[in-house]
Amino acid sequence: MSRIVYVNGDYIPEEQATVSIFDRGFLMADGVYEVTSVLGGKLIDFAGHAKRLERSLTELDMPAPCTMDELLEIHRQLVEKNGIDEGLVYLQVTRGSDGDRDFVFPDPETTKPTLVLFTQNKPGLADSPAARKGAKVISVPDIRWHRRDIKTVQLLYPSMAKMMAKKAGCDDAWLVEDGFVTEGSSNNAYIVKGNKIITRELSNDILHGITRAAVLTLAAEAQMEVEERNFTIEEAQQADEAFTTSASAFVMPVVEIDGTKLGDGTPGRIALRLREIYLDEMRKAAV
Ligand code: PDD
Repeated sequence: MSRIVYVNGDYIPEEQATVSIFDRGFLMADGVYEVTSVLGGKLIDFAGHAKRLERSLTELDMPAPCTMDELLEIHRQLVEKNGIDEGLVYLQVTRGSDGDRDFVFPDPETTKPTLVLFTQNKPGLADSPAARKGAKVISVPDIRWHRRDIKTVQLLYPSMAKMMAKKAGCDDAWLVEDGFVTEGSSNNAYIVKGNKIITRELSNDILHGITRAAVLTLAAEAQMEVEERNFTIEEAQQADEAFTTSASAFVMPVVEIDGTKLGDGTPGRIALRLREIYLDEMRKAAV
């Protein structure tokens, strides 16, 4: 059975899905996206993703393609039509196509945004072998633009960073700017010292992770201390533990940074505990 995807109002098999070659997402990376995870056939933290999408659209003066209630319905329909139990829903909104290439934004009255959604089936997303093993990361310079708080589809450098990690025999890259870790290539970055979780504070330097917000709240509720401040790669290498958070990998322990093992080189106790708490609580609140 071929995957059913959503394009501008239609649910269609993926082979039949098309978008104009003049679409500004394609020509200018003029688009924003969200990735929402699915556990037990239900959406994890949809409200958080919808809120961030609205913010991304507003920051870029891009019209919303529909209401957030309609978006929820599209997500649910796709999960159902594709029989997803564990996986992801990818959503992308672009400024659409006015039938030519121009740096000037088209008139939103006449050029409607393009809305595309598709599912990714990922059995074993929650009970992940990768999380039991932990991730090895390398550090690379953060040369992205300075509005990383907007979830745009400009993902070339994060892809390159991931490839650099792969080439080095590692799983992911942590990005470093002015001597401090900003975030991972597609996740937020944390270190743990004793009972304290340390992560960079929110600003335009990083994406305001939806998983980050939930994990920090749950950590505080579990009597863990949270400190939002910058940290260096050297501090991270000497920390007791490290981990990342994202909708696609939840809480992922980091066991090695630039060739230095953290502790005994196995996933840390706090990271694993947070992963468990996060999965339990988010499953309960899934919609
Ligand atoms: N990435 N930072 C960056 C640069 C990201 O791309 C992501 C998410 C995050 C974590 O955000 P959240 O917890 O809301 O998923 C942080 C998604 C999963 C992706 O690009 O596939």
